[in-house]
Amino acid sequence: MNKLSVNGERLWSTIMETAKFGGTDKGGVCRLTLSDADRQVRDWLVRECESAGCAVSIDEMGNIFARRSGKVNTLPPIAIGSHLDTQPSGGKFDGIAGVLSGLEVLRTLNEAGYTTIAPLELINWTNEEGSRFTPPMLASGVFAGVFERDFTYAIEDRDGKTFVAELERIGYRGERKCGDHKLGAYFELHIEQGPVLEAENRMIGVVTGMQGQRWYEVTVTGQEAHAGSTPMHLRHDAMVACARMVEAIHEIALNHAPLAVSTVGLVAVKPNSRNVIPGSVFFTVDLRHPDDNVLLQMDRELRERVDNIAKETDVQAKLVNNWNVASMEFNEECINHVRNAAEALGYRHRDLISGAGHDAVYIARVAPTGMIFIPCEHGISHNEMENTKPEYVAAGANVLLHAVTAYDEARNAATR
Ligand code: GLV
Ligand code: MN
Ligand code: MN
Repeated sequence: MNKLSVNGERLWSTIMETAKFGGTDKGGVCRLTLSDADRQVRDWLVRECESAGCAVSIDEMGNIFARRSGKVNTLPPIAIGSHLDTQPSGGKFDGIAGVLSGLEVLRTLNEAGYTTIAPLELINWTNEEGSRFTPPMLASGVFAGVFERDFTYAIEDRDGKTFVAELERIGYRGERKCGDHKLGAYFELHIEQGPVLEAENRMIGVVTGMQGQRWYEVTVTGQEAHAGSTPMHLRHDAMVACARMVEAIHEIALNHAPLAVSTVGLVAVKPNSRNVIPGSVFFTVDLRHPDDNVLLQMDRELRERVDNIAKETDVQAKLVNNWNVASMEFNEECINHVRNAAEALGYRHRDLISGAGHDAVYIARVAPTGMIFIPCEHGISHNEMENTKPEYVAAGANVLLHAVTAYDEARNAATR
């Protein structure tokens, strides 16, 4: 193993510096995909990558690629990436910790005068979160051939703005065709977004795979009526139906404990007036389980419970399943490089399955892929309080650095 080590202080201060783009009063970040804050952080990243000597290009999905030359530039690049977008009340680390750890790897290699055999490529994937534009992992999905570009261009946010119009507005609709080049491998660092590493006092999670996920949109239609003069037994109250459905969806996960999870995260009531019985409610459902068969069983239970509650409460309910991703495993060779790097650097580590979705999940379909987790405080993420420690980020970035350089040596030494 080489003796390289990242500059942990520089990495931490870079994370703190970028948290100002979309920074909130509570110390979190609101950097929705293709917002002005997203443009600002992208402009910052492009400038920093160029000053680190990289050639930067943008594709038609707004994905940013910063290429650092290797010794054999005909080889496909070894990529490092994650995302710069956040949830509406997101933290300083979800996504950007992976991008900036990649930048720190490039800076460290520059200072050491270390040239990899294959080129390296730092990537920011557009719209990982799926909060403003659904589904998530949208642009890594196009890169991997999961979604058609034009399907994604037409997606609207809740204000009716399309993905393509917003991409153009912030100046990040690039020339390159999305997915126009092969990646030799892909590594992504991310905060765990769960409590396991911290509880076990481990620095590194070696991510072996991800659980399956299914997303739905439910529209409940009742009848708007006067809150004062409509007797209880004559109402068609969409909100009451929705409330019962939310309870049922919670129970579905409890019935498949301990691994199942279910969430209703977005609810929109119409007309949303205090003395009108709600005529319509729109809500989203997120179901997850590591076993795809159990997830399918949860899907069946969801449909049945929604139908039954609609009948019992005298309303109509339309359920649309708008996104699924099956459980998956990462590439064994990449996993081994992550584990070996953690071991050689003396970091306490364990294998983990990701509960969250990541761009790495789609990229794993087109390139050997591995992921590194670092602990986050109390396991809290998708929250402005999200936090981690400088030593964890530095440890993760060191594992990233050594996994990437070891992969390069192991795979490409013969071509030098
Ligand atoms: C991504 O943030 C997810 O919801 O898993
Ligand atoms: Mn993320
Ligand atoms: Mn996230």
